[in-house]
Amino acid sequence: MAFAKNRKKQQRWIVPSGLEPTEMDRRIIAWEAKGKLVPTPQLIKTKSQIEGIRKAGQLNTAVLDTVAEKIREGMSTAQIDRIVYDYTTAHGGTPAPLNYNGFPGSCCTSLNDVVCHGLPSQDEILQEGDIINVDCTTILDGYYADASRMFVIGHTTPERQRLVDVAWECLKTGQQVCSQPYVFVGDLGNAIARHAHANGYTVVRDLCGHGVGLQFHEEPDVEHYGRKGSGMLLVPGMTFTIEPMINAGDWQVCGDEEDETGWIVLTEDGSDSAQWEHTFLMTENGVEIITH
Ligand code: MF3
Ligand code: CO
Ligand code: CO
Repeated sequence: MAFAKNRKKQQRWIVPSGLEPTEMDRRIIAWEAKGKLVPTPQLIKTKSQIEGIRKAGQLNTAVLDTVAEKIREGMSTAQIDRIVYDYTTAHGGTPAPLNYNGFPGSCCTSLNDVVCHGLPSQDEILQEGDIINVDCTTILDGYYADASRMFVIGHTTPERQRLVDVAWECLKTGQQVCSQPYVFVGDLGNAIARHAHANGYTVVRDLCGHGVGLQFHEEPDVEHYGRKGSGMLLVPGMTFTIEPMINAGDWQVCGDEEDETGWIVLTEDGSDSAQWEHTFLMTENGVEIITH
């Protein structure tokens, strides 16, 4: 009689029978043998899938560029939502957020102390000094790309501007760690958190980046903090987001009592929060931005 614990753990990475293992197969198998989390074969996109994800990324970028052109003081966040819906659908795409688990808009509009998943609203009017994240995900021919940017309305305070700038640097820090393949999600999370902390800020822990491309949210979870070497190994052909949420105060988040949908995420202490997001493709030479 065998004890369950003696059974070999299900292997995630399998070389197709009859094929010689490639260099990538060998590296993945070696890390898996050391107990590291490695991708499943489905997470490695084919050439034609990557083509499709790139096209979705191009349209998603054009959507955000259109928002950038039109966003201004006095506009409601519902108007931003309308711009996203109209531009996306006019170009053959679908806004992924719309009706996603009951989400009522075509994008997320997250103002000041809203960390993410802000709901576009006719009653929310942009004012001078506001900082807002607009997060768009576009589906085109079944492929997904996801990106968000911060916008500063008019001039803001030096404090808010610095938060926006450091959040951008945090995304770039994650990208730099991924300048070669076979790094771990924990490597980039660790570097991002260090950069945030060095600037007196904190990193939201309850929400993370994610695989993306064939679905809105895929494996792996891309946490923006953590231990080097933890999390999943990132290998060529994987597509995923990095999207650190950086708080001016404490990292804890909470919901909005008045939001019946349960989507809106706020900083618990009412401090400001900023976030930038790109979809990346890991290649033999490190990551490439898909949502440029
Ligand atoms: N775009 C967000 C992300 O970066 C997800 C938003 S889910 C939605 O993962 F339903 F609120 F749109
Ligand atoms: Co997003
Ligand atoms: Co995302």
